Amino acid sequence: MMKTYLKSTSEAVAPFPKDLLLWNYWDHEHVVGTHFEHYKKVKIIRENEKECLSERTAKLPLVPFYITEQTLAKLESPNKMLVYHSTLFNLVKVKQVFDFEEIDKNNCRVTRSDFLEIPYFLKFLQKLFDIIMKKWFVAVWAEDMPMRERRYKVWKLGFKDFKGIDYVNDEKVNSNSYQRHPERDYKLELPVPKITNIKKEGSFRLFKKSKHLGYSK
Ligand SMILES: [Fe+2]
Repeated sequence: MMKTYLKSTSEAVAPFPKDLLLWNYWDHEHVVGTHFEHYKKVKIIRENEKECLSERTAKLPLVPFYITEQTLAKLESPNKMLVYHSTLFNLVKVKQVFDFEEIDKNNCRVTRSDFLEIPYFLKFLQKLFDIIMKKWFVAVWAEDMPMRERRYKVWKLGFKDFKGIDYVNDEKVNSNSYQRHPERDYKLELPVPKITNIKKEGSFRLFKKSKHLGYSK
């Protein structure tokens, strides 16, 4: 059967360094917390400094039940990542291309292009696909903003991965270097360090609703 694609492109600018935005996309543990309405489990199958294969249990737009999908993320270049999703025995395949355009040190434009592989007769769904994917982009973007903001704030205070300040942890580090360089560059380091057992058993959403954890409307 002849195949084609439904396509959609979304973009937005965020007031953060490019690598911090990339970190957000490569941090898989937050998916079941920050995006708790859409995901209930994420497990990392394998990862290295260029790619990550994970398994996600998600509720996708217009699908009324949870499905498990495999997600392969690849860092193509310092400014581009590709994400391949597949589910339902590889019958449903989506490719996403993320472009990160550094406007300046503290501002970055993210453009996401989505491609859903379909048989040709479903081409009439193009408009609907575009509407859903744009809506999805805006919703997820808004959910991610507070953690990006928080991470950048503590980064500027001198922290790294919430493990304290280098010159406080290590007496050999010169504290003056921090005062002279309060605007240190944010650099992406993959794989992102983990605090849960996401690699062995997966990271779960523990509660359906919890005001204390922010799992509530
Ligand atoms: Fe996110």
